[in-house]
Amino acid sequence: MKKVGVIGCGLMGSGIAQMSALNGYTTVVVEVNEEILKKGLASIQDWLEKGKKRGKVTDEQIEAVRKNLSSSTQVNAVKDCDIVIEAVTENTELKKKVFKQLSDLVRDDAILATNTSSISVTELATVVKNPERMVGMHFFNPVPIMKLVEIIRGLATTDAVMAASREFALSLGKEPITCPDTPAFVVNKLLIPYLLDAVRMVQDGIATPEDVDKAMVHGCGYPMGPITLLDYVGLDTTLHAADVMYAEFREPKYASPVLLRRMVQAGRWGRKSGRGFYSYEKR
Ligand code: 3HC
Repeated sequence: MKKVGVIGCGLMGSGIAQMSALNGYTTVVVEVNEEILKKGLASIQDWLEKGKKRGKVTDEQIEAVRKNLSSSTQVNAVKDCDIVIEAVTENTELKKKVFKQLSDLVRDDAILATNTSSISVTELATVVKNPERMVGMHFFNPVPIMKLVEIIRGLATTDAVMAASREFALSLGKEPITCPDTPAFVVNKLLIPYLLDAVRMVQDGIATPEDVDKAMVHGCGYPMGPITLLDYVGLDTTLHAADVMYAEFREPKYASPVLLRRMVQAGRWGRKSGRGFYSYEKR
């Protein structure tokens, strides 16, 4: 692979584009408008500058990103890419729309990857011409630090596409694992019920958000408490994953607590909206 396309320059897309460019791939990242694109590119710049100050990012890596990363508001910009990774909002219809467009645009031998956290790869593949070239590549937030990538095999995905996607993840310095196309794959199948339980504890008045976080950080050595993590990954993303899992498995452990749904309805999505369980406007 030489040229990589990334659709979406939000939390995940910007991290994926950064890691791709930093590791030597000619990379183009696409957003719907200049404003969102600018914000995403600024977050990459910010990450690199902070990384340099901490001695974690070298001048060569910053130069590689400058040289290899371009951006566009036109999806046509990815037409000659060898792999295109979609990282738009967790919404099945929106993702299908993106893949339908991509399918008409890219070469027949290009890999189409989705960074979905819970939507079926097989379902998304129903709108593309070559479902065998469709795969899941699920990165974790923050993408530059988190090593894991789940490589998800849709029903039609070929061995060659699985192997190429795995190789690509390795070339980004990641640790890939492969998973079948089962709702929420591996990490979120474990993580989402844990996050929902933390919200239930707050909702039922068992502990404050701060105490739930303290408990897991100081009692179990987790790097972040579950409520902080919820704000970090996004309450909207978590609720969507929970709903997908509940619809598929019908198990109470995947049912969203009312509080989570209300907070999402109120636009308290976490860091990305400036407020979740905690406020980020003052922080
Ligand atoms: N550039 C380069 N490196 C950087 C950096 C930057 N701008 N900022 C931080 N780092 C490095 C640090 O140097 C440090 O490296 P070291 O361990 O080698 O010293 C490491 O990253 C951690 O940085 P910090 O010490 O500043 O930060 P914390 O210790 O506070 O950790 C965190 C931050 C990595 C986010 C940690 O809190 C954590 O791991 N949280 C959990 C995150 C998690 O669970 N993510 C998965 C969410 S689930 C998901 O994404 C899936 C979705 O589908 C829901």
